[in-house]
Amino acid sequence: MKPAFFLLRLISLLHLALALCSGSGNFQFAYHGFTGTNLTLDGNATVMPDGILVLTSRKTNLTGHAFFPAPLQFRTSPDGTARSFSAAFVFAIISDYTDFSAHGMAFIVSPTKNFTTALPVGYLALLNVQNNGNTTNHLFAVELDTVQNTDFQDVNANHVGINVNNLHSLQSSPTSYYDDGNNGVFKNLTLFSREAMQVWVDYDGNTGQIDVALAPIKVAKPRKPLVSAKYDLSTVLTEWAYIGFSSVTSGINSRHYLLGWSFAMNGPAPPINIPNLPKLPCFGPKPPSKVLVIVLPIATATVMLSLGTIATLLVLRHLRYAQLLEDWELEFGPHRFSYKDLYHATNGFKSKHLLGTGGFGQVYKGVFRKSRLEVAVKKVSHESRQGMKEFISEFVTIGRLRNRNLEDKPLRDWSQRFHIIRGVASGLLYIHEKWEKVVIHRDIKASNVFLDHQMNRCLGDFGLSRLYDHGTEPQTTHVVGTMGYLAPELICTSKASKLIDVFAFGAFLLEMTCGQRPVNDDSGRYNQEMLVDWVLDHFNKGSLNETVDLRLQGDCNTDEACRVLKLGLLCSHASANLRPGMRQVMQYLDGDTPLPDLTSTNMSFSTMALMQNEGFDSYPINN
Ligand SMILES: *[C@@H]1O[C@H](CO)[C@@H](O)[C@H](O)[C@H]1NC(C)=O
Ligand SMILES: *[C@@H]1O[C@H](CO)[C@@H](O)[C@H](O)[C@H]1NC(C)=O
Ligand SMILES: *[C@@H]1O[C@H](CO)[C@@H](O)[C@H](O)[C@H]1NC(C)=O
Ligand SMILES: *[C@@H]1O[C@H](CO)[C@@H](O)[C@H](O)[C@H]1NC(C)=O
Ligand SMILES: *[C@@H]1O[C@H](CO)[C@@H](O)[C@H](O)[C@H]1NC(C)=O
Ligand SMILES: *[C@@H]1O[C@H](CO)[C@@H](O)[C@H](O)[C@H]1NC(C)=O
Repeated sequence: MKPAFFLLRLISLLHLALALCSGSGNFQFAYHGFTGTNLTLDGNATVMPDGILVLTSRKTNLTGHAFFPAPLQFRTSPDGTARSFSAAFVFAIISDYTDFSAHGMAFIVSPTKNFTTALPVGYLALLNVQNNGNTTNHLFAVELDTVQNTDFQDVNANHVGINVNNLHSLQSSPTSYYDDGNNGVFKNLTLFSREAMQVWVDYDGNTGQIDVALAPIKVAKPRKPLVSAKYDLSTVLTEWAYIGFSSVTSGINSRHYLLGWSFAMNGPAPPINIPNLPKLPCFGPKPPSKVLVIVLPIATATVMLSLGTIATLLVLRHLRYAQLLEDWELEFGPHRFSYKDLYHATNGFKSKHLLGTGGFGQVYKGVFRKSRLEVAVKKVSHESRQGMKEFISEFVTIGRLRNRNLEDKPLRDWSQRFHIIRGVASGLLYIHEKWEKVVIHRDIKASNVFLDHQMNRCLGDFGLSRLYDHGTEPQTTHVVGTMGYLAPELICTSKASKLIDVFAFGAFLLEMTCGQRPVNDDSGRYNQEMLVDWVLDHFNKGSLNETVDLRLQGDCNTDEACRVLKLGLLCSHASANLRPGMRQVMQYLDGDTPLPDLTSTNMSFSTMALMQNEGFDSYPINN
């Protein structure tokens, strides 16, 4: 605590010393910022907490004065010669506008600190209309004028002048500074450039030489002054005079700041240590730094380029693996291989993976990368056909089934079997009649009927199916299908038609009801070549109920079973045009329409005989 106390005492002693020696020959001071300084302020002048002396803030029509509080002895006696003196100060003028400001400021040596009668506008709050130019003013001033007043022959709105008792300067010059380092030329400056600048005022009492120099704060005092005049201030100054500043704003919001000030009588002013000055607050748009000017655009460009590249890659990736979500997928649920996975599994649908071209799309062999699972992938164009959506829905449904079909587990319950029969029938009706395209399944058989866990049937495996428009003639095809389900006319015509499916459906009905395979493989209860012949035999003998599957163990609606058997026979009619359509089949199944009389001669034939007549080989083909 003691050293601090001692220091404080020293400072106050120093102040005292200053006051005492202000009358002596070598008085001097240097203020770096104005915090704690003893100044006489008036008008709008104030010292900011950061040490900046604000002579006028930005409001219009303001004046401000700041004086060293005590008068200094400029002449050794009332009639003595004026002493040499030297002042330096750092100022800044900040206008709301970049190309004009008003009015300006001045360093003054004056017999009074009372400027209440001075005019602000045009007179820098120094003089007025009456006393301007009057030798009784005893006023010396260096003006930093930012308004061109033609009354006083101002050179421009940005000039420095030396004034004695008058606003009309003895000498003045547009603001510039002598650049010692650069071939010694004058460089233009703007007083209200918002940059701090330093001014040096030197008076030589012996010669009457007055020199005023100005420079940006980073530049040392120029060798050559900006404005010079020869004037014996002994004729102007009073013995004791005040030193200080005056400033005025009008019309335009301008701030007049002082950052530092030094003064010396009979010697050069102590140099102002620029780094010790308070920092000028940042006003308005600051010129962007070089780093930002150069780095920012590059960084921005780089970032934009990167983002663009990433976006492009994402879009390309999205396009490459783009898949359309079909309406039916909302209904048929989430099981779906992503197009991306299928794309990779088939090496991008390369032709070397092509297995074949089906009715409406190519089939590729693929291997899933993770599971090594081998799959066949059918590529179907989204736009190609309207009916495709429903068709694909069947595939999707198959995907959701538990890969279980009728042959895995014989059903002991007739009602379940009938449920399945009805389901397959309605499925066929749907693909035959209700789609926009007609689909001929061509491979109706029990093993192609899949069941989900709720025993809902699904007619699966559309591998052989054909698609054609309603009312058009089906194209000739290869004979495909499964023996026992193949309609006899296929051998002759090779034409896919709905009635081929009806024939196969008939075989399916018999198979479901009898629990026997449609073609004799020596494991069943019948010794004919074909199941349909055995059922037909029993029908003709009137013992149709004996063909019903024994595993149903009497738990059977025999009437319904016999109706199904008769319908099976009707559907299996060798003559295609005597088979019912699927819509009729549904009506027969539901009992809405009584079955036609099957005892007519139409039914008294052997399918097998017909087939043998056509030289048909009884081995399964294509399966
Ligand atoms: C200077 O003028 C401004 C604007 O009128 C005002 O806010 C501020 O208080 C004044 N300062 C002084 C010291 O009078
Ligand atoms: C500032 O002074 C000028 C001239 O004296 C006057 O015309 C103007 O109205 C004044 N403006 C304000 C804001 O006081
Ligand atoms: C400021 O200086 C004046 C004149 O020398 C003096 O009268 C006054 O007491 C000083 N004020 C302070 C706070 O030192
Ligand atoms: C300043 O001068 C005016 C006019 O001469 C006078 O009325 C006023 O009292 C003076 N103010 C001071 C503080 O001396
Ligand atoms: C100079 O000022 C004094 C006192 O203010 C006055 O008496 C005198 O007439 C003025 N002279 C001129 C030329 O204005
Ligand atoms: C410097 O200012 C003067 C006076 O305003 C002008 O005539 C001159 O063209 C300026 N020079 C440059 C280089 O701007």
